[in-house]
Amino acid sequence: MRVLLTGSTGRLGGAFLSLWGKDPEISLVSPGRQELDLSEPEHVRSFLREAEFDLLVNPAAITGLEECLDHPELAQRVNVDAPRVMAEVCLEKSAKLVHFSTDYVFSGEQPGMKTEEDATGAVNVYGVSKCAGESAVLAANEDALVARVSWLFGPSSEQRPSHFDHVLQRAVLGEKQHLISDKFSMPTLTHDVVQWVGLLLEANASGIYHLCNRGEPESWYSYAVEVCRLAGGFGDDVDLDDLVATALADAGFFRERRPVHTTMLPARMMAEGIATPRHWLDAAEAYLKMR
Ligand SMILES: NC(=O)c1ccc[n+]([C@@H]2O[C@H](COP(=O)([O-])OP(=O)(O)OC[C@H]3O[C@@H](n4cnc5c(N)ncnc54)[C@H](OP(=O)(O)O)[C@@H]3O)[C@@H](O)[C@H]2O)c1
Repeated sequence: MRVLLTGSTGRLGGAFLSLWGKDPEISLVSPGRQELDLSEPEHVRSFLREAEFDLLVNPAAITGLEECLDHPELAQRVNVDAPRVMAEVCLEKSAKLVHFSTDYVFSGEQPGMKTEEDATGAVNVYGVSKCAGESAVLAANEDALVARVSWLFGPSSEQRPSHFDHVLQRAVLGEKQHLISDKFSMPTLTHDVVQWVGLLLEANASGIYHLCNRGEPESWYSYAVEVCRLAGGFGDDVDLDDLVATALADAGFFRERRPVHTTMLPARMMAEGIATPRHWLDAAEAYLKMR
């Protein structure tokens, strides 16, 4: 299978690159931003028309909430217009598109786990752009797969540490950390996402799927406590008393609104017998063993 991968310098794209890059059944190309700049959708169209691939995987996005707030036109081009063009070219070429989205498409006003059936209602520029990206992709190409993920962790470059890595690095240094305890989502291992995408492709799945590990909704604080507790079992020198719970309302450093209850359930994958994702703590343990 010939795969064209965007965003390979990112957290999720990096997982596809490292896992699929060494798969003898896959011929993978991963043009970087210099070759394929998603902020220029018409350049994306001509590049993709020239390229040869059976599958286009698009984890690239403007993912920073404050960056989207400050540059809404850029968010529109990269998160909405470029994915629409990808969907159109995939239709022309009879290639499959896997596009990634986020739990931030939900308003997060009501507690509880969100399934693919739940109504969206993003509360910030990033979420609105990702939601519009989903709609644009599926309107252009109903065979596309739109995979919503949340709170990714896993091996990544030092420039893009996840909450998991960041908390652990600081905990080992003995730093006191104030962590928000009243905003909830589902930590998810990037390598598991890559595996589920493989299974979804085998099942020729299309439409929206939630690709996340399972468990109870976690806050940034409870996530950090669990990571440090697990890492302590692997011999990391961490003190849980250095982790201090704080409220979202008291976090003065955010300029953009954060949705509160966006924990997803991978309901469709389970209902269709495609995969039953493991608990995120099992995935976290697997990641700690990978270090
Ligand atoms: N990380 C999470 O916890 C999380 C949670 C929910 C949803 N998601 C979704 O999951 C997907 C992957 O996220 P991630 O965490 O892997 O993102 P990330 O680490 O922020 O990486 C973003 C990638 O997009 C590329 N990119 C940005 N602008 C570009 C442009 N104009 N042209 C070409 N490439 C461009 C970046 O390239 P450069 O290296 O050149 O900047 C980078 O490779 C995204 O769709 C995101 O919305 C992520």
